[in-house]
Amino acid sequence: MEQKGVCIKDDDMKGLIGKLLSAKAIVLGSPNYYYDVSGLMKNMIDRSISTSYLGVGEYTGMEWHGWRPFVDKAGGIVICQAAFGAEKALETFKCFAEYSGLNLIGEVIASAGNQPVNDFPEYIEKAHKLGMKIREEVIRKETKTSR
Ligand SMILES: Cc1cc2nc3c(=O)[nH]c(=O)nc-3n(C[C@H](O)[C@H](O)[C@H](O)COP(=O)(O)O)c2cc1C
Repeated sequence: MEQKGVCIKDDDMKGLIGKLLSAKAIVLGSPNYYYDVSGLMKNMIDRSISTSYLGVGEYTGMEWHGWRPFVDKAGGIVICQAAFGAEKALETFKCFAEYSGLNLIGEVIASAGNQPVNDFPEYIEKAHKLGMKIREEVIRKETKTSR
């Protein structure tokens, strides 16, 4: 709490947190592993908790909590799986987005069996469309704030 918003663990998560905070948009992506996001992705989500302690007491009025760190960012979700069970992975990402304030624009769930997802043009098309929508939102926001 003394070092507001700074994780006490000094490792490469610091660099990633810097990137998350400076990004205009954040796309969360994971394979579906046993009906949820991968362990690596869950670690990233858990390790980002320090960002919720930026501005403690100053903006929320809560002495124990800071602002929502990604409230100014557009976001998307991409989940790849063999066939089924992505609902919980989606929920994990949605909870993270809700907690951090990320403005979710859309999601893509790709069921690719045991083939590379690149073999499915419809998913690539959906991912491309999501990317374009996120881009539009970033531009809309930038135009609004520069007026
Ligand atoms: C540990 C593990 C668990 C998995 N669980 C599921 C699952 O619950 N449902 C599903 O449809 N696919 C499941 N899969 C398949 C992966 O989602 C799929 O192969 C993945 O999208 C490919 O990403 P990767 O090559 O990065 O692992 C699982 C694969 C692994 C390795």
